[in-house]
Amino acid sequence: MSIVFDEKNQNFNLSTKDTSYIIHLAASQFLQHVYWGKRVNGFTLNYLLRYFNENKCDSDGIRDELGLDVLPQEYPSYGIGDLRSPAYQVCLENGSTVTDARYKGHSISLGKEALEGLPSSYVEDISEAQTLEIELKDDLCGLKILLSYTVFENFNVIVRSVKFINKGNENLKLLRALSANVDFDDYDFDMLQLSGAWGREFDMTKRPLVRGSQSVESRRGASSAQQNPFVALMRKNADEDTGDVYGFSFVYSGNFLANVEVEQFGSARVQMGINPFDFGWLLKPQETFQCPETIMVYSDAGLGNMSRIYHKFYRQRLCRGTFRDKERPILINNWEGTYFDFTETKLKDIASEASKVGIELFVLDDGWFGHRDNDRSSLGDWQVDLKKLPNGLDNLAKSINQMGLKFGLWFEPEMVSPDSDLYRAHPDWCLHIPGRDRTLRRHQLVLDFSREDVCEAITKMIIDTLSTVPIAYVKWDMNRNMSEVGSALLEPERQRETAHRYMLGLYKVLDTITSSFPDILFESCASGGGRFDAGMLYYMPQTWTSDDTDAIERLKIQYGASLVYPVITMSSHVSAVPNHQVSRITSLTTRANTAMSGNLGFELDLTKMTDNDKEKVKEHIKYYKQIRKIVQFGDLYRLKNPSHGNEAAWMFISQDKTEAIVNYFKILSKCNYKLSVLKLKGLDANKRYKIDGTTEIYGGDELMYAGLIIPELKGDFQSCSWRLKEIDG
Ligand code: DGJ
Repeated sequence: MSIVFDEKNQNFNLSTKDTSYIIHLAASQFLQHVYWGKRVNGFTLNYLLRYFNENKCDSDGIRDELGLDVLPQEYPSYGIGDLRSPAYQVCLENGSTVTDARYKGHSISLGKEALEGLPSSYVEDISEAQTLEIELKDDLCGLKILLSYTVFENFNVIVRSVKFINKGNENLKLLRALSANVDFDDYDFDMLQLSGAWGREFDMTKRPLVRGSQSVESRRGASSAQQNPFVALMRKNADEDTGDVYGFSFVYSGNFLANVEVEQFGSARVQMGINPFDFGWLLKPQETFQCPETIMVYSDAGLGNMSRIYHKFYRQRLCRGTFRDKERPILINNWEGTYFDFTETKLKDIASEASKVGIELFVLDDGWFGHRDNDRSSLGDWQVDLKKLPNGLDNLAKSINQMGLKFGLWFEPEMVSPDSDLYRAHPDWCLHIPGRDRTLRRHQLVLDFSREDVCEAITKMIIDTLSTVPIAYVKWDMNRNMSEVGSALLEPERQRETAHRYMLGLYKVLDTITSSFPDILFESCASGGGRFDAGMLYYMPQTWTSDDTDAIERLKIQYGASLVYPVITMSSHVSAVPNHQVSRITSLTTRANTAMSGNLGFELDLTKMTDNDKEKVKEHIKYYKQIRKIVQFGDLYRLKNPSHGNEAAWMFISQDKTEAIVNYFKILSKCNYKLSVLKLKGLDANKRYKIDGTTEIYGGDELMYAGLIIPELKGDFQSCSWRLKEIDG
């Protein structure tokens, strides 16, 4: 049993294969957080409880019970003695924002329910997980809070979420409704976050915890490229391979907050949830509010192990659908090849070249609809531009199919251009505030997906195209953040619900469209990785990692993204040189090795390539087809962090450890430098591996403990890829 209520000690013991999480039900009926870490069996907690309650001095210097202000809590209220950051806050009709919710009961059940209207992890069989639901209640106002903890024993994952129910007779207003709260006893940690910007996503940023609050958040209406909804607390001695690491990943794609507050006695309170900034939710009697879930992972073997736990869990119990377990197609996307400037003939020429080198899918990006010759018009008018494609989309798709390629199409369904028939017909369909200017970004406005009519109309438009054209793949783009967040249909006291209602509307649209077309592969995108989060992965199992396609910049971006997100969720393309974002020139091999470290694609005009280069591309594609199963479904081991020096390296290992792919990158060339030795990881020490294409054979132990010698690589931006295969004897 992974969840046990120990009546005698009044403890909830939650155990995964390697971890324990323990909650004590105090006599006062508050939930006290006791322990989270390496698995312990038969824990006697009394000594810990004494320590928590008695080792801090009150203002008169007496070691006495200080009450809630020092109690490590599971879900702290506001206003009844705990002066740290509360997990929730509710405004009553009398204007008071104080609540006192205490334990009323609990249930333990097999499996896990889906969260209504929200993305959530799931079980395939109820025996995989157990769920503890603890009921808290504020008797004065009737607020009921259900804390949910699902323990995925074999995945080493604990999933938390919270549901609010108004059981009283008066209206309540949620001002703050976080999904998880964990009180650590000390702050001897570094906080790791994935920060960045457009084109520079997933920059691993580490800082020591200090007294006071430190947070990452988004107020942009999307999870954002600036801060990803993830934080990890790392013990000071923890690194890639060793030490205690606690990961928190939020299954949500909108505004979020991840906050760590270090208080007077040095405890660290970690909280994660919908950002309370500009949030409010009116809860009428009997209404409920469901918070998104937080996926919590503890690793006693550093970040690498934490990442592999997230990867496996997200690959197998968050991503869904036909493509979850399928090798992903190698695609060519015309965006950087042509931008808006294409004709039907041009597209067919690119597709024809693509078919000759072994590419499997052709993706038509932005510019195929309305009269979109640049980014100033037509979003919302999802009808083909017959000037560019006189024979229609259907015809183009069929011709491409005849070349042996599948056909994919780009949409940006959440947006509208002021220069569009849609906007002219429905100027109130975008987010806006009456009487205020509507701020344009990339010349576009955000459609109000908090409105059902808008969601229905857009769903219909997209479904019409998907039902009439043989489309095998959709790129779902989103290229600006929110401003003037307000909805024409919501009453004044609900205006602060707009941003979250938008997400609920979007999730519903995504659910309808993706479940209506189970054989279409959906890829999400938000100017690259501007909404690369666990929420989107529930609907679309892969993401365009970044608009920066430079092979060297991508090393850091993909390395950072891999901290949480599985390799199979990361799209990565070979693009032309000089690179369009940074003007760097790199070899085709290095561009391929970077792109082959994710879901391989191409984003260039193949008709402009020399025959020699096309031959190389053919070779790369042949190689990728042989290794992609291992890259996409194998275990990732990061070997060298490009942020820490002149090299990057990682490897992918098949589940049975019989095969591995090692990719190594040397960034700048140096004179008279010492050759590198790359110590591999994760191999079977007792197996012998042959390096493909050579006669070299090494023991797994040799490769891991002594290492692989990197040959001299002359010139900047060099790389190598090795394939290791187990050999008998
Ligand atoms: C932003 C995306 O990230 C690009 O790949 C491309 O699809 C453009 N939008 C098209 O407008």
